[in-house]
Amino acid sequence: MKLVTCGLPYANGKAHIGHLRTYIPADVYVRYLRMMDEEVIFVCGSDCHGTPIVVNAEAEGISPRELVNKYHKHFEEMLKAINIEFDYFGKTDSEEHHTRTKDIVERLVKNGYVYPKEIELAYCPVCKRFLPDRYVEGICPYCGSHARGDECDQGCGRHLEPGEILKPKCKICGSNAIYRKQKHYFFRLTDFKEFLLDFLEDVDGTENALNYARQWVKGELRDWCITRNLEWGVKFPGEDLVVYVWVDAPIGYITFTEKACEKLGKDWKEIWMDGGEIIHFIGLDIVYHHCIFWPAMLKGSGYSLPDGIVASGMVKVEGKTFSKSRGYVVWVEEDYLNSGFSTDFLRYYIVNYTSHQKDLNFSWELFKEKANNELIATFGNFLYRVFHFAWKNFGEINVSDVDSALLEKISETKKKIEKSIREWEFKMASDAFMELAAFGNNYFQSAKPWELIKTDKEECERIISSCLQLAKALLIFAYPVIPKTISKMVEVIDLKTDELNLEDALKLAGKINLRKPEVPFEKIDDDKIEKMEKLMIERIRKAEGGEMETEISLEDFKKLDLRIGKIIKAERVKKSKKLMKLEIDVGDEVRQIVAGISEDYSPEEIEGKLVPVLVNMKPAKLMGVESRGMILAADVDGKPVLLHPDKDVPAGAGIR
Ligand code: MSP
Ligand code: ZN
Repeated sequence: MKLVTCGLPYANGKAHIGHLRTYIPADVYVRYLRMMDEEVIFVCGSDCHGTPIVVNAEAEGISPRELVNKYHKHFEEMLKAINIEFDYFGKTDSEEHHTRTKDIVERLVKNGYVYPKEIELAYCPVCKRFLPDRYVEGICPYCGSHARGDECDQGCGRHLEPGEILKPKCKICGSNAIYRKQKHYFFRLTDFKEFLLDFLEDVDGTENALNYARQWVKGELRDWCITRNLEWGVKFPGEDLVVYVWVDAPIGYITFTEKACEKLGKDWKEIWMDGGEIIHFIGLDIVYHHCIFWPAMLKGSGYSLPDGIVASGMVKVEGKTFSKSRGYVVWVEEDYLNSGFSTDFLRYYIVNYTSHQKDLNFSWELFKEKANNELIATFGNFLYRVFHFAWKNFGEINVSDVDSALLEKISETKKKIEKSIREWEFKMASDAFMELAAFGNNYFQSAKPWELIKTDKEECERIISSCLQLAKALLIFAYPVIPKTISKMVEVIDLKTDELNLEDALKLAGKINLRKPEVPFEKIDDDKIEKMEKLMIERIRKAEGGEMETEISLEDFKKLDLRIGKIIKAERVKKSKKLMKLEIDVGDEVRQIVAGISEDYSPEEIEGKLVPVLVNMKPAKLMGVESRGMILAADVDGKPVLLHPDKDVPAGAGIR
């Protein structure tokens, strides 16, 4: 029995594309394994503890429990919408989880791996409280970046121990924190150095994660502070402290396996006590916790060790480091689902953009291209063409004689997919079926069945039979990546998704009674993508402005480089309803500026006009066209009305 887990989402905010970088490939992996007849249990759940939860609950003015319940429900809904199907999606504030955590902590204490020690901790003299983890911010002692209390999240990515951060500041009131002594409990991580070095040699997984971890272990390991001053969390036995969230969170993998097994009538001990196969899917940001803390904890308490640690590269948005606060984010519900895009487009993008270990850049423009050119024009096109032709001209057909070159190609694709999946190369697997679809298109195109049907119906039937076999194989191969679309398409040839198996791709389809096919995907139009890009740019601008005060100083105003510019040339942006590309003389140079005025003005009527321009606007790309500056216009119910100076002035005249 194999267990696959995913890094637990903190139940302190909404689902974003960063989470999906872990969950979609893991779901794809599990679906492929099941189609190779492996027995797999797939679990995840909300990470309910730790300061991220408490800090956000305070900010929203609700209790941690209320916050956790709210976002747990949100995640359940999002996962369902994206077709990520865990056997169990639990919560770490459940009773079972507290019990399992207590068991492990007590075993560690009993085995002599835990000891108390007085340490200096960040304390806020104004709030009169200790400042655990995210309650404190300051400077990373390793790389000098701005860092949170327990993690150098913007710099070197290191885990930081309490007391380590330099220049600590209270996150709540902004005062400088001081250091105060208090007794805490430590885990003897240093005792596990040899064990970890061996473990990291043997364990399977992606080299990116393992290499980092080996470096860290070879460098210095320090004992790990496993208690915190918080109310919310799993109590540390006998003290008024809770265990650090990174102690109890991974134990969730065990708790959720127990629950899943209860449901499925299996024995969780076979996995966690007798060495079943355990595979953790995570992102590169939490490698330290999964490759160092977690195996040491398991070893120290006598549970089974992970067999594979599969870490994805991080997500970037429009080429920039992912950041919720800076606006470089794609929200699953608000941005993606509410815009009505097919969930399979996003699944395909995440799996197919790049190798699993590399960073993944999300760009709306590329998203559109991948959906329209690959899924629709190549993959969907082949299936629809074949199904439609077969349904219209034959209705019923017996696939008993298939071109051997085609069977060979299907067999090759199957092997490629099997190999790629074993190597965590999900892009390669999806490239393989995409190539097969392209091959199918060529085959269909060069055989010209639409001519044969008139001249040699028998030969035509043979060609279409072969195409149908290839279509069947494609449905099977692509199902793990785009399950929603395939569930619909399999009905045409009367297959059922829960019976799909990779082996069947080579079994002749036999007698098929075709149903009328539907068009598999809806094309993404440029307008919609333009809207998404605009939304993102607005969000980034807002974030840059931070909290704008209602009144600004003359000094603030002077930062704006406002000038009168002369429109030298105007031209509509191709494939865009709204955008116009302008060349504007701003005095010392001619700037290319893109403005949303195409619906209200024609290029001819504005060429030669004088308009106010914000010259030092940050450059941006709209529909792939660079814009350096912004023209100002009156906003009348969302429609732009251009502004012109009262008298003729030279281009470049300043505006005061
Ligand atoms: N709660 C911890 C994990 C505990 S596991 C015992 C956590 N939560 S998270 O919500 O921040 O992240 C959940 C999953 O999403 C993790 O696998 C994490 O690596 C992944 N990602 C979250 N943001 C990400 C990116 N921007 N890019 C890629 N993956 C990242 O970490
Ligand atoms: Zn750092």
